Amino acid sequence: MRNVITLEELRTARLSLDGTVGFVPTMGYLHEGHLSLIRHAKEECDSVVVSIFVNPTQFGPNEDLAKYPRDLERDLRLIEPLGVDLVWTPTAEVMYPPGYQTWVEVEAVTRPLEGAMRPGHFRGVTTVVAKLFNAVQPHKAYFGQKDAQQAAVIRRMTLDLNFPIEIVVCPTVREADGLAMSSRNVYLSPEQRKAATVLFRSLSAAKELYESGERNAEALRRKMKEVLAAEPLAQVQYVSCADYDTLEELSEVRGKALLSMAVFIGKTRLIDNFVLG
Ligand code: PAF
Repeated sequence: MRNVITLEELRTARLSLDGTVGFVPTMGYLHEGHLSLIRHAKEECDSVVVSIFVNPTQFGPNEDLAKYPRDLERDLRLIEPLGVDLVWTPTAEVMYPPGYQTWVEVEAVTRPLEGAMRPGHFRGVTTVVAKLFNAVQPHKAYFGQKDAQQAAVIRRMTLDLNFPIEIVVCPTVREADGLAMSSRNVYLSPEQRKAATVLFRSLSAAKELYESGERNAEALRRKMKEVLAAEPLAQVQYVSCADYDTLEELSEVRGKALLSMAVFIGKTRLIDNFVLG
C-alpha cells in the first residue's frame, strides 16, 4: 500500500494502477462504515484508492474543524490489511492552493435537510469531491447511505458535470443496538451513547408503521417525533419524510422515499435515515 501526499505523486501512482479503479473518499478517523466501503470497492474493482482529508470548506463557522477527530497512523493500520493500493493524504495547501476561488455548487437538492441546517456545507463537499474525482479519475466511487443527502447531491453533481464515474451507495453499518457508525460517536458519554439509539428506534417505528400500510407522510413524521420526544437527552433538529432523489417533503409516500433526521444528543449532532420502497 502506497501513501502519497502531493498531486504529482498521486498522478504518477495513479498511472501505475491496473484496470478499474474504485475510490473511497474519507475524512479519516475510520470506522467499520468506511471499511465496508473499502471492502465493496475491493470486491468490484481491480485497484482501490482511498483519500483521507479533513476538508475545511465543508465545516461551518460554528462547527469545530479543529476538534474533528484525527489519527492517521491508526487509519493506515486499519486499511493496510484490506488490500488498498493507494492512500492519498493531501494537505490543505494541496487541495486549496493560495488564492483559491473556484467552487462547485449543486442547487435544489442541497437546500433542504442538512443544507438548511448547515449553510455552505454541500458547497464544500461538492467542491472537494469534484477535485478528488479529477485527480483520482476513478471508475467507481463509494459513499455511505448514512449520509443520504450527500449521496443524492454527489449523484446529481456527477450527472450534471458528466463525470464518467459510477456512484455506488453502500448500506449504513450499525452497532449491535442499531446506532449508525459515525466518527462523531466518540464524543458521546456512556449515558448519551445509550440515548443515541433513539434515532434508530424512531426510524424503526416509522418503518413499521409504513409496513403496516401507512402512506401518509405526516403520520410517519409524527411517529418519529413521538419516539424522539420520549428521550430526554435528544434535541430534534429536523425529521423528514421526503422523495428519495429530490429530497422534497412528501404528503403521501408512493415511490422510493427517505425517512431522515438530525438530532443533538448533548452537543453531538447525529444523523440517520431509512429508505422506504
Ligand atoms: O463523507 C465524508 O467523509 C466527506 O463528506 C467526504 C465525502 C469525504 C468529502 O470530504
